[in-house]
Amino acid sequence: MTTPPNGRGAASPDAVLRPHAEQEHAAELARLAEHDDRPRPPGWRLSPQAVTVYLLGGELPDGTAIVPKYVGPRRLVEVAVATLATDRALLLLGVPGTAKTWLSEHLAAAVSGDSTLLVQGTAGTPEEAVRYGWNYARLLAEGPSERALVESPVLRAMRRGSVARIEELTRMPGDVQDALITILSEKALPVPELGTEVQARKGFTVIATANDRDRGVHEPSSALRRRFNTVVLPLPDTIEDEVEIVARRVAQIGAGLELPETPAGLEEIRRVVTVFRELRSGLTGDGRTRLKSPGGTLGTAEAISVVTGGLALAAHFGDGVLRAADVAGGIVGAVVQDPASDRVAWQEYLETVVRDRPGWGDFYRACREVS
Ligand SMILES: Nc1ncnc2c1ncn2[C@@H]1O[C@H](COP(=O)(O)OP(=O)(O)O)[C@@H](O)[C@H]1O
Ligand SMILES: [Mg+2]
Repeated sequence: MTTPPNGRGAASPDAVLRPHAEQEHAAELARLAEHDDRPRPPGWRLSPQAVTVYLLGGELPDGTAIVPKYVGPRRLVEVAVATLATDRALLLLGVPGTAKTWLSEHLAAAVSGDSTLLVQGTAGTPEEAVRYGWNYARLLAEGPSERALVESPVLRAMRRGSVARIEELTRMPGDVQDALITILSEKALPVPELGTEVQARKGFTVIATANDRDRGVHEPSSALRRRFNTVVLPLPDTIEDEVEIVARRVAQIGAGLELPETPAGLEEIRRVVTVFRELRSGLTGDGRTRLKSPGGTLGTAEAISVVTGGLALAAHFGDGVLRAADVAGGIVGAVVQDPASDRVAWQEYLETVVRDRPGWGDFYRACREVS
């Protein structure tokens, strides 16, 4: 296989757009398993220690580098991993863009080697998505049988002894959420139509995610909550952490999309992150000026999309260097969600903070142009 001129790995037209974590990091996971001499909980591919190295990054005795997937407090990751080795399920809670989905995928990949047993919680998620459904053609032709049963991802995870993922748990109606109670407490799912039950194999557990600032949520019942250990994911503590997260993810996404190589100017990333941090906290970085906070979530995930969008502009329409003009449109789009109130907050920020900030002249002009 030849390497394309931009040096970004073999460009194969039938490559998938987004490999699952266990595919993308298959080599790392294999090396970790080779070097892993600690005890593995039943059904686990790796020891809890090795799972933590996979998530936070590190170096193996043979020099293999493990890239960090999650940037955040080590203790929090350890608690999350340790929870999966107990009989309680894990609930990742936090504001949008704090890597709940991201961490849940990588945890499932490292623990079970499979992150795809996924239920997306919405207001319309039916109970079949958590338990099982029926193939009606078969059901009518043959009556209820194992062959007519359609397994949910959760049921499949129980049979395999794997991690099942439930995204946005609190958007599912309460009675659908509560279908999990028996599964999590008894580790079994009765199938009365067949007069049987499915007992979970060792290694089965559930990782759920939920936003703690969401409209239309259904608070989990206390019976369900008790089955979960909750880990709250914080926003990045320092601007340095957040810049690092954005820079790392943008480089990965850019490579995955095979964008022409564009140096993602760290300065430009720092500006995007600064703007988002200041607006979401309602205070400038030096603590001097109070700001109106726009309604939208200006999280790390938004900063990543703004910079990625900017890179595509710079690569295809600009001079190949990420400049203020490439990110300005994305920033305004992310900040001004509500055309009335957010626009006021944005204009005020632009005129009172951005205009007079030393070295930000190009950025101010670029934002003025698209505001
Ligand atoms: N602390 C962090 N460490 C690593 N990546 C992060 C972090 N915070 C955010 N991200 C990145 O931002 C994105 C977060 O998206 P996501 O997991 O969908 O957030 P959530 O599910 O919490 O709304 C991911 O691409 C992830 O790489
Ligand atoms: Mg999510």
